[in-house]
Amino acid sequence: MTIQSLEGAMRTRNVGEIAATLPGATAVFRRFRLDFCCHGDLSLETAAARRGIDPAEVELALKALGSGDAPTPVASMSSAELIDHIETCYHDAHRHDLPELMALARKVEAVHREHPKVPNGLFSTLQEMQGELESHMRVEETALFPMMRVETSAELDRAIGALRHEHDDQARLLHRLESLTDDFTLPEGACRSWQALYVSTAQFVADVMEHIHLENNVLFPRFAATEQTIEG
Ligand SMILES: [Fe+2]
Ligand SMILES: [Fe+2]
Repeated sequence: MTIQSLEGAMRTRNVGEIAATLPGATAVFRRFRLDFCCHGDLSLETAAARRGIDPAEVELALKALGSGDAPTPVASMSSAELIDHIETCYHDAHRHDLPELMALARKVEAVHREHPKVPNGLFSTLQEMQGELESHMRVEETALFPMMRVETSAELDRAIGALRHEHDDQARLLHRLESLTDDFTLPEGACRSWQALYVSTAQFVADVMEHIHLENNVLFPRFAATEQTIEG
C-alpha cells in the first residue's frame, strides 16, 4: 500500500481493517495502546478519542509504514493458509511460551516477595490464561477450523459468536497482566529473572492480541458473511 493511498480516509477506517491490511500497523496500535483486537470495529478516530490521543499522530506513524519492504498482508491469505498461520505462529507458540513464563513468574514472586513492586498474582493469572487458552484453542482446532476448511457448516455463526466472547475474556486477562506489572515497568535493580519475565510476558501479551485480531477481524468475518449468504 502506498502512502498516497492511505491519505484522506485513514481516520474513518476501522482499526481492525487497517491492522489486517497494513503490515506493521499492529505494532503502531500497540505503541499507542489502541485496542485493535477485541474492538477492531471502531474507527481510528473513535479508538484514538477513547485513549485521549490525537488521531493525526497515529495516522502519521501508520503512513510511515508504507515506505518499507512490506510482508504479505494477512488479508490476502486464503482461509486455509490463515488457519495454518494461526495454529503455527500463535497456538503452538502460546503452548511453548506459557510454561516458561509461569516458571519465571513463580520464581520472581517467591524470591522478591518482600519487594514493594513484586507482581503478586502474575503466576496465577498466567495459569488462568493457560487454562482458558488451552480449552479455547482446542475447540478451534478440533471443531471450528475443520468446519472452516470445508466451509459448509451452518453451525459456524453460533460457534464464532461463542469464541468471540472467549476472546473478550482473554483480553480481560491480558489487561490484568498489564496492570499487575505496571505495564511491564521494571523496578530499579530488577534481577535478570524479573527482567526476562517482563520482557517475555509483554511479548506474550502482544502475541495474544495479534492472535485475537487475526481471528476476530480477518478470519471470522469471512465466515459470518458466508453464513448470511447461506441463510439469505
Ligand atoms: Fe486461535
Ligand atoms: Fe481464538
